[in-house]
Amino acid sequence: MSSQTCPQKRVTIHELKRMKASGEKIAVVTAYDSTAARLVDRGGVDVVLVGDSVGMVMQGHDSTLPVTLEQMIYHCVSVRRGLSRSGSRAHLVGDMPFGSYQASPDEAVKHAMRLAAEGGVEAVKLEGGTEYAEVISRIVRAGVPVMGHIGLTPQSVHRLGGYVVQGKESDKAQQIIRDAEALERAGCYALVLECIPAELARLVTGQLDIPTIGIGAGAHCDGQVLVFHDLLGLETEFKPKFVKRFADLGPLAVAGVKDYVAEVKQGTFPAEEHSFHAPSLRLLQVVAPRPESDDEHTGVVGAPV
Ligand code: KIV
Repeated sequence: MSSQTCPQKRVTIHELKRMKASGEKIAVVTAYDSTAARLVDRGGVDVVLVGDSVGMVMQGHDSTLPVTLEQMIYHCVSVRRGLSRSGSRAHLVGDMPFGSYQASPDEAVKHAMRLAAEGGVEAVKLEGGTEYAEVISRIVRAGVPVMGHIGLTPQSVHRLGGYVVQGKESDKAQQIIRDAEALERAGCYALVLECIPAELARLVTGQLDIPTIGIGAGAHCDGQVLVFHDLLGLETEFKPKFVKRFADLGPLAVAGVKDYVAEVKQGTFPAEEHSFHAPSLRLLQVVAPRPESDDEHTGVVGAPV
């Protein structure tokens, strides 16, 4: 028998369905760059989502609307590289940004294919209910799996009137159930439920064969998703109710930078162990001739002899 360790089997859309059927919960985290991708993969996540939340988390916008397809492809490529380097098992999904799938099914298919072909994602995610069933089935038929996203859909923040919990009234809750069923019929392999009452998420989860991934949707979804910066406490100013900080890295990062600044100022960094030496090199100090009009060029330079 070979002593080599077997490469881990990558999580597929079929594996996610199997996990739902067997009651194994699905852990999803966002990542926007190669470092985060390697960290979350080592942490054992099943799915990495390159979310358009990148617009708020990394770019500092107050919505996800300004994020472009080119930016999403850039981040997907970075995350894909991080996952490839660590020989990962995580399934990679990329968000279709605002404006990339709303205008026409043809454009949506073209843009989904770019995310898969250039960005290296295994699936795309897009926001919206019944009204996107046709777009979704066209993308799926073109060969790109689609994860749906209903409830609070941040790309519709202006129509929704803010980042508010959805489906609290029975007619709205009924619509969410109809949307979920339409998206499953359209061919979605999984569905994000964002900020809806836990009771409603439980009902939707029970009615679908495809896994539901909750964020602010209670404990009865088939999986959960959180933003990398939120779960690690890197975002210190803002903490929605549904976020749990599993680490407090923000203050740790600030403390680390403060120590660095102090050591640079004191001259204790870099120390001997951080310095390079070339013992065989003899240096001759030469004084450069002083130019008449510019005394900034005067200095001592080392020249190997
Ligand atoms: O953009 C994103 O990160 C998301 C998740 C929070 C579901 O859509």
